[in-house]
Amino acid sequence: MTSLLDDLTETTGNAFETLGLNRMLGAVRVSDRPDLAQFQCNGAMAAAKQAGKNPREIASDVVSELQKSPFIDKLEIAGPGFININVKADTLYKYAIESLSDNLGIDNIGQGAKVIFDYGGPNVAKAMHVGHLRSAIIGEALKRAYNFAGYDAIGDIHLGDWGTQMGMVISELENRHPDWPYFDDSITEFPQESPITLRDLEEIYPAASAACKQDEQRLEQARQATVELQNGRPGYRALWKHMVEVSIEAIKANYARLNVHFELWNGEASVHNLIAPMVQDLKEKKLAVTSDGALVMHVSKDSDSKEIPPLILYKKDGAVMYGTTDLATLLEREKYFQPEKVTYVVDKRQNLHFEQVFRAAKASKITPEKTDLTFIGYGTMNGTDGKPFKTREGGVMKLEDLIKISHEKALQKMNEANITGKFDEAQTNDIAHKVSIAAVKFADLQNHPNSDYVFDLDRMTSFEGKTGPYLLYQAVRINSLLEKADQDDITAHQDNLPEHLVSQEIDLLLHLTQFSENTLGVVKNNSPHVLSDYLYKLAQNFSSFYSNCHIMSEENDVTRQFRLKLCQMTRAQMVAGLNILGIDVPEKM
Ligand code: ARG
Repeated sequence: MTSLLDDLTETTGNAFETLGLNRMLGAVRVSDRPDLAQFQCNGAMAAAKQAGKNPREIASDVVSELQKSPFIDKLEIAGPGFININVKADTLYKYAIESLSDNLGIDNIGQGAKVIFDYGGPNVAKAMHVGHLRSAIIGEALKRAYNFAGYDAIGDIHLGDWGTQMGMVISELENRHPDWPYFDDSITEFPQESPITLRDLEEIYPAASAACKQDEQRLEQARQATVELQNGRPGYRALWKHMVEVSIEAIKANYARLNVHFELWNGEASVHNLIAPMVQDLKEKKLAVTSDGALVMHVSKDSDSKEIPPLILYKKDGAVMYGTTDLATLLEREKYFQPEKVTYVVDKRQNLHFEQVFRAAKASKITPEKTDLTFIGYGTMNGTDGKPFKTREGGVMKLEDLIKISHEKALQKMNEANITGKFDEAQTNDIAHKVSIAAVKFADLQNHPNSDYVFDLDRMTSFEGKTGPYLLYQAVRINSLLEKADQDDITAHQDNLPEHLVSQEIDLLLHLTQFSENTLGVVKNNSPHVLSDYLYKLAQNFSSFYSNCHIMSEENDVTRQFRLKLCQMTRAQMVAGLNILGIDVPEKM
């Protein structure tokens, strides 16, 4: 079903057309003066200009046409020719109730088109840190919104498992344990069990990285190890495999805590075998050329206002680069999925890298012309001091630690709000977990991805204000109310609405008609903040309805049933909307 706003636009467009005016001018939007009207159409002014007429006169002709429509309640002309529109309560109800249907009343705009989201990017052998948080949160929400909008959206983690960091760790291990079988070229069978644990890696990688920074020769050794790994040296490959397995276990645990899930667990290494033939092809097409001993693709254009450097395919030493694997990954994605769209959710500082990759993919036709490649670059997560978020000691915080401190903070806030008393320890921890994830995610998602935002743990875990915990609290409150209500009691239907609705009921009902367009708004703007705002306002509308209207104690049957129905719709949208944002609602709180 189309949304109320779309249908109003259609009706008003028809009215314009009947009067010989451009139907596009009949666009209707939600009023920016809700105190005056529910909806408005501002097209009369432009139409008057085109027709050389008085705008109020045009508005009045449109109003006469609109009056014929059965769902219009009240029309008014304001100022120079704004048309204010109010809709009948039973019409509002008819659209709002769609959110209780299977697809929640969300228009299918995707029609099954395939979209791939690349929003992981954690690196093997390195601990996940806060830098990976925004990608996970935003990417997961976008992917879910696309799926609700009828797309076939899948997420690919795209592990960083083929870069110099692998060579750094391997060469470090070789220096420390030259006697290990992995470094003896006469050996071809290697132990099943990993000789290193995750804890070991947490010490080894920073040590290796620091050593390489200080000493050019040590770095050269790491580069050499990277090339040999990529070329398939058996001992290195075996050691690499251990590192991938050990790291993936931790990576999976982190994402599971965040309620973030990937359909594809591919990495940079997965496409290694595609690289040689791909590069051969690029050479034959004269798109790949040698420059200073490296093999590159020139991607700059005359129209560029700043310099776009070439994409390096092979370094002088023969190692493949970050861009090479990204290009080969696009080749693979085309081969298996022929996606309509590939969307990357990565730190905005990688903008140039993706510009290079996208240009190379299009120039070589690795990605067909019609396929949309989108880069969503997210901004920085700052601390309360306004500078990039750091630990107290000034280091980069591990993701695991961030999840831990958020959990503790959530527990503290629950105690302050007297939420913990009724539950045993396991239940309390489960609720605190959901509260903390809601807090962290909602604080991010209410902003446009491009903008920076402040990670203020104290504020975001509060049960008041524009926070995740506030939304959870509202959802749970409705839950317990509906649990108390007898299911037989919630039978309101359209032709049995109360004769008179109070303003809080109308406001809530009107808001409830806008769920579809706000979910689709996430897709159209590639930004979950649209739905986040909608849900926050829904909670506010519900709250004022709840404090002004009796529900269970209401004596009039029709009114009580209708109010329970409002609760039911609010709950359905709140739970589904939060689910799209990747936020789980606890049963009780
Ligand atoms: N591993 C990269 C990093 O840590 C992020 C990967 C982003 N995705 C991609 N397809 N390049 O910076």
